[in-house]
Amino acid sequence: MIDRLERNIRYLRVSITELCNLRCRYCMPEDGVCKKRHEEMLTEEELIRAIRAAASLGIEKLRITGGEPLVKKNVVSICRRAAEVEGIREVCLTTNGVLLPQLAKPLKEAGVSRINMSLDTLNPEKYAYITRIGTLDQAMAGLEAALDAGFEKVKINAVLIGGFNDDEIVPLAELTKKYPVDVRFIEMMPMYDSGDFDSKAFIPYTTVLDKLPEAVETAPDGGVARLYRLPGGQGSIGLISPVSAHFCGTCNRIRLTADGKVKPCLHSGDEYSLKGLDYDGMVAVLKDAIWNKPAWHGELSAENRSQAGRNMNQIGG
Ligand code: GTP
Ligand code: 5AD
Ligand code: SF4
Repeated sequence: MIDRLERNIRYLRVSITELCNLRCRYCMPEDGVCKKRHEEMLTEEELIRAIRAAASLGIEKLRITGGEPLVKKNVVSICRRAAEVEGIREVCLTTNGVLLPQLAKPLKEAGVSRINMSLDTLNPEKYAYITRIGTLDQAMAGLEAALDAGFEKVKINAVLIGGFNDDEIVPLAELTKKYPVDVRFIEMMPMYDSGDFDSKAFIPYTTVLDKLPEAVETAPDGGVARLYRLPGGQGSIGLISPVSAHFCGTCNRIRLTADGKVKPCLHSGDEYSLKGLDYDGMVAVLKDAIWNKPAWHGELSAENRSQAGRNMNQIGG
């Protein structure tokens, strides 16, 4: 469906849980989330109904997100049913990778075509610090499992954090030489509760190019990243710049939260509830949400935090 600014909305990001088995500092508070009441969350039936309703309006691509989607017990069933919805061409998933050793193959068999995995550092102490409770070994085992399962594409997401991983841009980028993966560096977005970081932590994507003078720009793949390649690289290097050069003018996506709110923009407080609605009701609310998608998300900086009114784990990125 076309929104009022003539953007063609074809991509739905579906968060299936706010819960996570890690606690990344830029994403969620240390003590986790206050678990919402079961009745507030979308049931699997409602979720599939919402996906059918969205597909009837032209949504073709789904990305299953969280929190951490793999902690949700029925994740494989959700993916299988989502992939069967008429009009859905692609089901992708974003994960921290910890549970991929058990779940990569079942997800592939259920119809998930692509996996994006978070990995901000290759240093075990720094990994433990940024995730508060994770180990690098678990993440690396997850990456190997994703590669073994034979997904069409595996991408690594590294959130750029000044004073934390700007000294690892080269080794992270060189993962594209070692593995058939794309590595994307993402400017950190100042969320509601990401108070661990001062303004020095928010560094622009151009820092990556300064550290990789041999990187050559390549054609875009339709996503939000500018793409480059290292000589000898099997995959590309992507730069995602929501803070220093936003891409709202070409945004093709909306989001659905685990508690049933359609968010037409990541950083806007606008929410439209689907909870408890029948199919026609969901179609009507989705139409309204898409038509009224905000033009852009406003200035983002350490001083101007996201207006989303939620942390990242409650939206799904
Ligand atoms: P592809 O399908 O591989 O293009 O994935 P993706 O980049 O859409 O999804 P992913 O879950 O890997 O997100 C990568 C990063 O981009 C995360 O930090 C997201 O928060 C961020 N991101 C994705 N969509 C948007 C958006 O519409 N606006 C902003 N500001 N950031 C976004
Ligand atoms: N800024 C940028 N990216 C973020 N992510 C989570 N929180 C933030 C943030 N504040 C990323 C995760 C994951 C993706 C869905 O969103 O690293 O890869
Ligand atoms: Fe969990 Fe992902 Fe948030 Fe890290 S970024 S705490 S892995 S939801």
